[in-house]
Parts: sequence; C-alpha cells; structure tokens
Amino acid sequence: MNITLVTLAEADLVACHALFVDAVHALGRRHYTEVQCVAWAPPGPMPASWRAAWARRLGGSTGLKAVADDGALAGFAWLTDDGEFDMLFVAPWAAGQGVASRLIAALEATGRQAGLAELSVYASHGARPVFERAGFAVESDHIAWRDGVALDNWIMKKALP
Ligand SMILES: CC(C)(COP(=O)(O)OP(=O)(O)OC[C@H]1O[C@@H](n2cnc3c(N)ncnc32)[C@H](O)[C@@H]1OP(=O)(O)O)[C@@H](O)C(=O)NCCC(=O)NCCS
Repeated sequence: MNITLVTLAEADLVACHALFVDAVHALGRRHYTEVQCVAWAPPGPMPASWRAAWARRLGGSTGLKAVADDGALAGFAWLTDDGEFDMLFVAPWAAGQGVASRLIAALEATGRQAGLAELSVYASHGARPVFERAGFAVESDHIAWRDGVALDNWIMKKALP
C-alpha cells in the first residue's frame, strides 16, 4: 500500500469523523467494551457541534492525513501547537501497516521544527505500543470521561532534546 501524507484541512473533517467512528468500533473495540466505544465515538453522521469543535481544535494544531493511491483516507492525526497528539486514527483496512507510526514521526518532526521541548498524548490501549515504539514513555494512567462512561488510557510523554 502506497501512502502519502498531506496537510489536513477543515474540509476533510467530515471524512475524518467517519474514519474515527470506524476506527473506534473496529480497532478500539479490541480493547474497550461496546458501551465504551459508543460513548467514545457515537455512531452516525458528524453532529454540527462536533464539526465546530474539531475545526476549533484543528485551528490550533498541525494536522496530516494519510491518503492511499486511489485517494482513500487511510488515517489522520493532529498535534496541537503546545505538543499534544490530540487525534490519531487509522482506517481498519489500513491498520497494522505503519500508518500511525508515519503520522507520529511526521508530526514529531513538525514539533521539533517549531521548537517544542516535549510531546504528549492520552494514549488508548491500542495506541500505547505504537507510541512506545516512537520513544514515548508512560507518565501515569488516566481516565477520560465520555458521556458518563470511563475510558482508561495513559498519559505518555516524549522529551525533544
Ligand atoms: C491505534 C492506531 C492509531 C494504530 O494505527 P496503525 O496504523 O495500525 O499503527 P501502526 O501500523 O503504526 O502500528 C501498529 C502495528 O503495525 C505494525 N507495523 C508497524 N509498521 C509496519 C509496517 N511498515 N508494516 C507492517 N506492520 C507494521 C506494528 O509493529 C504494530 O504491530 P503490533 O501493535 O501488533 O505490535 C489504530 O489502531 C486506531 O485507529 N485505533 C482506534 C482508535 C485509537 O485507539 N486511536 C488512538 C487514540 S490515542
């Protein structure tokens, strides 16, 4: 699979949301219950309030999308201006082929160029080994609350010398 990384734009957010729902329910479901996945990524079209919130978050971030040769969206991620991996999702059909690792490496390079001293992420069970391979270390465990449902994850950090 040939994948190209391209700058993520606000116009991509509806497609990103569809991928996010697919990724959570197909890949996240390996580690989280159905109830947790529904709270994390409610199925259905992207609500207008989510679109506005994601656009606001992307506005303070650098985003990339991973695109296959046929134009299909294989994944996306964004890194906030203060160094947090706020989003990282890969389409089920593209999983396990290094797409997330490429997105992390490219955004890490952006963070270095911007002079960030440290990167951080609230990593899911599935993402933790991917971030560990990228040199991140677990700081502590963490609970994210979505719609009254607890999602267990980890705060991970990487210093940029
Ligand atoms: C977590 C997630 C982003 C990982 O995406 P991914 O593209 O599959 O991740 P990678 O391919 O980079 O790494 C995953 C696996 O592929 C393997 N891999 C890495 N590079 C590879 C390559 N070039 N060829 C084949 N396999 C490769 C890795 O060894 C790893 O295997 P393992 O975890 O079984 O040991 C994806 O599963 C996802 O979207 N999950 C649901 C949502 C989620 O948890 N998001 C993260 C929020 S913090």
